[in-house]
Parts: sequence; C-alpha cells; structure tokens
Amino acid sequence: MPKFVITGGAKLSGQIAVCGAKNSALKIIPAAILSEEPITIKNLPNIEDVDRSLELLESLGASVTRFKGGVTINTKKIKTTELDQKMADKFRGSIMFVGVMLARFGQVKFPHPGGCVIGAGGRPIDLFIEGYKAFGAEIEEDHGHFYNIKAKKLKPANYFFPLVSVTATESMLMTASIIPGKTILKNCAMEPEIEALAEYLNKQGAKIKGAGSPTIIIEGNKKLKAGIFNVIPDRIETGSFAILAAAANSEIKITKCNPEHIMTLLEIFKKIGVNFETGKDWIQIKKSGKLLAHDIKTHEYPGFATDLQSPYVVLMTQVHGSSMIHETIYDRRLIWTDMLSQMGANITMCDPHRILVQGPTKLHGKHLMSPDLRAGIALVIAGLIADGVTEIDNIYQIDRGYEQLEARLQKIGANIKRID
Ligand code: EPZ
Repeated sequence: MPKFVITGGAKLSGQIAVCGAKNSALKIIPAAILSEEPITIKNLPNIEDVDRSLELLESLGASVTRFKGGVTINTKKIKTTELDQKMADKFRGSIMFVGVMLARFGQVKFPHPGGCVIGAGGRPIDLFIEGYKAFGAEIEEDHGHFYNIKAKKLKPANYFFPLVSVTATESMLMTASIIPGKTILKNCAMEPEIEALAEYLNKQGAKIKGAGSPTIIIEGNKKLKAGIFNVIPDRIETGSFAILAAAANSEIKITKCNPEHIMTLLEIFKKIGVNFETGKDWIQIKKSGKLLAHDIKTHEYPGFATDLQSPYVVLMTQVHGSSMIHETIYDRRLIWTDMLSQMGANITMCDPHRILVQGPTKLHGKHLMSPDLRAGIALVIAGLIADGVTEIDNIYQIDRGYEQLEARLQKIGANIKRID
C-alpha cells in the first residue's frame, strides 16, 4: 500500500500551480453523453477519480482519447445502459452518469454510488431519485443494491430541491438540457462548478439560464453539439495550498487559480492576520505575525466550503486562541480530527458537528491513515508543520483529488516522499 513519509519543519517557499477542478471534471466527463459529437476537455486534472470516470465512460462503449492535460471523447457508439457495478462502486462521481444516460437513452441501471464514507448513511441519493421522478421516470430498486430507471417519455420538470445539493443540481441540469420543453429548478446549489457546467452546455447548444443562482431555467434541446471545455481551477486545491502557506508561515505564490472562488476563506485570512496579495489568477501568501483564532460554520457556496474544513482545522491548531468549527453539511466529517489530536492538537469534540480547537499547539509526527481526500490533505499539511516524521497510509484517497501532490510540494521545499 503506497504511503507518504513526511519530515516536518522544512522551510517552504516558491510557487505552486493549481490544477483543474476535480468537482468540475467529474460532471463534464459524463456530460459528453448528452452529445453524439466529439467533446474535448482541457486542463483536466490527472487524478484517480478522473481516471475512474473515463474508464466508466469507456466501459459503456464511448471512445476516449487522452492527451497531455486533456481528453477527447465521442459517445456516439455507446451500446449499454447499465453502469458497471465494480467501477461505479469506486467513486461518488459515478452518480453523475445516471441522469445523462436516462436523458439520452430513456433508461439506466446502476448501483448505489460508492466514494467517501462521509455523510449520513453512506451517500444518500434520494434527491436524485425524486428529481428523475419529476421528469416522469419510473424507479425500480432491486434488493437495495441496483436501481433501474425507465421513462417512456421524459417531460420537463418543475422541481424544488428540499435540500441544497451540488451534484443533484448538476444532475438535473444536465438531464433537462436535452428534454424538450422548459424545466425550472428551484433551491439549487450555487457552486462555481455549476456555473461552469451550464456555460459549457450552452456552448454546445443548450439553453440554460440562472446557473450560480438558486433558480435555474432550462429550455431543453434534443441533442447537444460538439464542444471544447477548459476545466476551471480547483478552488479546494487553491484554499488548501493557501492554508498550508499560512500554517507554515511561508512565502508561497499560488498560481493558475481564481481567488474569487475562495473569498470566504480570504476574508477570514484578513481577520486572523494572514498577509497576502491577490491578482487575477494568483494569490501570494506572505510571512505573517501572530495569527488569531476564528470560528467557522461550513455552508453551501458562497459560504465556507465543507471541503476546506479539514485543512482549516489544522491552521486553527497553530493560531492563538480557541475556535469553534461547526460542520453543517456532512455527518461524520469531523471524525478525522481524532488523528490530529494524536499529533498533539488540543481539540474537544462538543457534539458530532462541532469541535473546539485551542491553539497554538506544537504538532508531532505520527503514523496515520487518510480517511478521505480532504482529511488526507489536512494530515499532509499537519505533517509538513509538525516536528518529526509523519507517515500517511491509504493515500489513494489523496490521489483521488490531488495530482502528483508530493512532486508539487517537493518543488516548494517540502520533505515528502511517496513509498510504494
Ligand atoms: C459535492 O458532493 C462534492 N462532490 C463534495 O466534494 C462537496 O463536499 C459537496 O458537494 C458539498 O460542497 C462532487 O462534486 C463530486 P451535496 P455532493 O449533495 O453533491 C445530502 C470532495 O471532497 N444529500 O451538496 O454529494 C448530503 O448527504 C467531495 O471533493 C442528501 O441527503 O454533496 C449532504 O449532507 C466530498 N441526498 C448534503 O446533502 C442526496 O440525494 C449536501 O451534499 C444528495 C445529498
């Protein structure tokens, strides 16, 4: 099992470029099913979840030609409407194939998606199922493992999300884009990846208005045309590297990013005393004095991203004062902090959704296991600022979302090795 071995305390400085957003790529790839013409995606992150998504697409009969930094896809020859159980089990992103298969072929059979363990009861998909029913689909669930979704004729929907969901919003947006008629989606998620998806589909002939706001209106077109897409910068990578620089009190320039997408974090940086400058596509973190604690409450975009909660907790172990971290999006997404406590952090679990972090505390290296990709990067950040050696197992979870992480961190001076 490959692992990272990190020796903390190395002086960090230099530049680190951000890759294309995992949570945009994992929707744009299945979106290729909506068109029978060639689709090209550039600035594609070279990560495990993208590999899984392209493998799943290929298993359906699509042609997938990868080139450096991107891929060309043609789904004209897709022959099956059943998602391979083994492949779909490997990542949450497999759910993004369901709506587009239903829209194009009128039917789809798939297993309950796999992926991270965070979230109550695995990763619920009730909002997706309700959404497909709103389009007139019938759902058959056999033995709780497989879903069979069929529709004689899909009709435009008028749907209000009972809960704000990023992927459920994206799934219904993609499905509606080729169902003739006017679909209205309300209480939608507003993440930048949703706006990027709509822009991309509109370039292929879709008619989508309001993406990035709570109400999205889609005039469905029978089929979409060819398209070329540049994946937007990964805002979670951007925030994670900015937090690393602040926690290590290092001069690091984060390039090929969009500072607009992490405004909530940058506003907090100003309040706690992190010195930084931003440009159109870069953030320069500078040496700072004493940093202060600051409470956060994770929230749908543009609030504090739940995916930045774990790196932020590491930062709070290094600042002066106590901070309340309230995780409102996922159950169990604070369990990883037990490992941070083993490294010397002073953390009190107030309830399953709230922890109190007292800082500053010196962290010391430990042998740990990465439970999911965001806790994984947080443990890497902790290892880089801790005394001694930190070993992190199960780094497949980290490779799911961070391209060649150790090589990129070595370039800014980190002492991190991948041991296969
Ligand atoms: C997306 O997950 C991201 N994943 C997550 O990133 C991110 O943490 C999350 O949005 C929130 O920003 C991808 O885009 C592939 P949700 P998603 O539906 O869409 C509940 C990462 O590390 N819910 O917005 O699955 C759900 O349990 C990953 O890159 C239902 O109850 O998140 C959660 O409590 C982790 N029923 C809440 O909604 C459903 O049918 C919000 O989740 C769907 C979701």
